[in-house]
Amino acid sequence: MIWILLFFTGITYGDAGYCSMAMACYPSTQQIKTFDDTIDGSVYKDDDQAYLDIVVMKNTRVTKKPDLIVFVQNSADVQKAILFAREYNLKVVVQSSGHDFQGRSTADDSFMIYLGNMTNIEVNTSKTDRSDAGEVVLESGKQWVDVYIEVDKHSRVVVGGSAHTVAIGGWALGGGHSPISGVAGLGVDNLLEVEMVTADGKIVVADNTSTFITYPNGTTHTSSNSDIFWALSGGGGGTFGIATKFTFKMHFPPSGMVTFNCDYPIIHQNGSNVGKTILRKYSDLVPNMPPAWGGFLIVSSSSKIISKLIYRDDSVGSISIYMNHFGDFNSQSRSYMEPLMNIDGLARFCYYENLSTFWEYEKNITDAIYIRSAIIGTLMQADSFSDSWIEFLVDYILRAYRENLQVIMSMTGILLGGKVNEASTVATSVHPGWRSAVMSTTVGVGWGNDDGDKNDTAFLNLINSYQNKLYTFGDGMYPNEAGSNVPSFSTHFWGSNYGRLLKIKQEWDPDNTFTCLQCVGYTASTSSSDYSSRGSKYLVTFLILSKYLFYRN
Ligand SMILES: Cc1cc2nc3c(=O)[nH]c(=O)nc-3n(C[C@H](O)[C@H](O)[C@H](O)COP(=O)(O)OP(=O)(O)OC[C@H]3O[C@@H](n4cnc5c(N)ncnc54)[C@H](O)[C@@H]3O)c2cc1C
Ligand SMILES: *[C@@H]1O[C@H](CO)[C@@H](O)[C@H](O)[C@H]1NC(C)=O
Ligand SMILES: *[C@@H]1O[C@H](CO)[C@@H](O)[C@H](O)[C@H]1NC(C)=O
Ligand SMILES: *[C@@H]1O[C@H](CO)[C@@H](O)[C@H](O)[C@H]1NC(C)=O
Ligand SMILES: *[C@@H]1O[C@H](CO)[C@@H](O)[C@H](O)[C@H]1NC(C)=O
Ligand SMILES: *[C@@H]1O[C@H](CO)[C@@H](O)[C@H](O)[C@H]1NC(C)=O
Ligand SMILES: *[C@@H]1O[C@H](CO)[C@@H](O)[C@H](O)[C@H]1NC(C)=O
Ligand SMILES: *[C@@H]1O[C@H](CO)[C@@H](O)[C@H](O)[C@H]1NC(C)=O
Ligand SMILES: *[C@@H]1O[C@H](CO)[C@@H](O)[C@H](O)[C@H]1NC(C)=O
Repeated sequence: MIWILLFFTGITYGDAGYCSMAMACYPSTQQIKTFDDTIDGSVYKDDDQAYLDIVVMKNTRVTKKPDLIVFVQNSADVQKAILFAREYNLKVVVQSSGHDFQGRSTADDSFMIYLGNMTNIEVNTSKTDRSDAGEVVLESGKQWVDVYIEVDKHSRVVVGGSAHTVAIGGWALGGGHSPISGVAGLGVDNLLEVEMVTADGKIVVADNTSTFITYPNGTTHTSSNSDIFWALSGGGGGTFGIATKFTFKMHFPPSGMVTFNCDYPIIHQNGSNVGKTILRKYSDLVPNMPPAWGGFLIVSSSSKIISKLIYRDDSVGSISIYMNHFGDFNSQSRSYMEPLMNIDGLARFCYYENLSTFWEYEKNITDAIYIRSAIIGTLMQADSFSDSWIEFLVDYILRAYRENLQVIMSMTGILLGGKVNEASTVATSVHPGWRSAVMSTTVGVGWGNDDGDKNDTAFLNLINSYQNKLYTFGDGMYPNEAGSNVPSFSTHFWGSNYGRLLKIKQEWDPDNTFTCLQCVGYTASTSSSDYSSRGSKYLVTFLILSKYLFYRN
């Protein structure tokens, strides 16, 4: 027994050399208390309610057990926390909301710097030379739902995530797509300024023309270097430093919005596969819709029992089209909507609504259902929507029925295009493939929590067996929506921008204080083994189900 423990201890700490709670190098209770007393926030351990409230990840399968969680209140707290962690050689992880699909914001035996309680927002509607509709400053832990409520009060909209509880940090650092990206671009295309704390405790304020540094001793330094701002505009979370504040452009709202949602079966109740026809029509129409249209597509397996209950028929599977039009109802919007609204008379339901504001649309986007799951992803361009793509997709979803798997197999596609395609491939550090992408696609499998981690390996292997094929349909992947075991992840996530990102990583975090799975600079040797040996446990799905799916009669 003892030798087994030692063996595992050796693997976990030997390579990375971090100090953790069971070790003699770990700070004493008194030293932790002294640190706690110096910050405005608080330190919590595993028997504190605040720790228990957040340690379970939004995706339960990714839950890990940090040694300590520091709820920071401001950038001075972040600075003290990182210096404390460095002093004792603790493994640092950074979390804003815990939505990361691969669990990169938590780790066993770590020192978690939790930004979820840094939620300030400052809205200033005055025109600036950077933004006609004014600017909003958001602390990293703010959840998008609260941002939408606040900017709506000022008659503004902002490019943000669609799920309510996603926070700013990891979303923005990875790129950030939005229901209105077609008219307003990615999160990083709207990013004006970032405040960040470095691994050695410097506080940095950076924009696209300058970098202002305050050293821990109070000395300041300004330069015209824009590297770090560029790296933070798509280079990914948990990599360059701990971002505390983000300034974004705001936008003027249109006079109204239109949304529609139509749901189709994959297998008609008479047994014929109508899914391919529906998806062909969708694929022909959607890449050519005007940028004011955004939305998402969810194709999923659903049990026959559900079909019976909801649709009162024997149809199988679901193709759900959700579209939102940033602008009010007019004949032009209508002309693009109608062909999708009842393709071949096959819709099980279809409705549209006139809305007055973006918030009215957003407030009904229900948050995801969190189940154990695993995803793979790709960006898709106009030429990705081939017949072989449709074959691939339908074949994948129907596997759930063929093999009678008690799982949800699904695909989620988020529409991009429009403004996303306007910026140059080097303007931000996101993969160049974004600049021609019309969809960010994830394919996933989700299963219940009841069996604990018993089924994890089997389903991860299942999803991963599709990844080499999925990549062939598109160019580039969104690091925030990709698999846990992507070969050549650096090429797939950042393409030709990777070289510059790696140089900036080496310059700004030379000791690799920040390491995470498939992040810039990640190699098996820079990571502690909980990524490599437990990589198979990292999870999750991305399934936004409108309540209409369930409540419509
Ligand atoms: C239900 C759901 C809906 C989603 N919807 C969208 C969407 O509409 N648009 C979209 O683009 N993406 C979406 N995503 C993906 C989302 O972008 C990622 O999950 C993202 O990682 C969330 O960032 P977070 O900070 O909230 O999460 P966390 O899990 O807290 O962090 C994610 C990563 O960023 C790092 N990080 C977090 N904060 C900071 C910081 N301040 N400084 C440095 N590193 C930091 C973490 O260490 C981790 O590596 C969705 C995901 C889910 C689960
Ligand atoms: C979060 O911040 C508020 C102050 O804004 C504070 O009262 C509260 O205790 C903090 N929560 C935790 C768990 O530290
Ligand atoms: C809002 O921004 C304007 C223009 O930059 C500035 O003059 C003004 O002081 C700001 N208002 C507040 C309350 O910060
Ligand atoms: C910096 O950003 C501003 C505002 O978004 C933009 O107008 C300007 O062109 C950018 N400059 C550079 C050098 O990228
Ligand atoms: C403050 O720290 C910086 C960076 O370490 C150093 O260059 C500078 O000399 C220090 N200033 C003072 C007054 O100690
Ligand atoms: C099943 O229904 C579809 C859609 O109405 C129709 O196109 C198809 O011909 C039907 N097939 C059979 C075998 O009835
Ligand atoms: C939406 O608005 C248009 C134009 O005002 C109107 O003709 C139409 O009936 C409205 N539709 C719905 C579903 O409310
Ligand atoms: C949002 O949900 C409410 C009920 O919760 C419903 O009355 C309303 O019509 C919905 N609005 C939209 C825009 O879907
Ligand atoms: C999960 O694993 C258990 C035990 O191995 C097995 O009985 C169960 O069928 C599996 N669940 C699924 C959905 O395959």
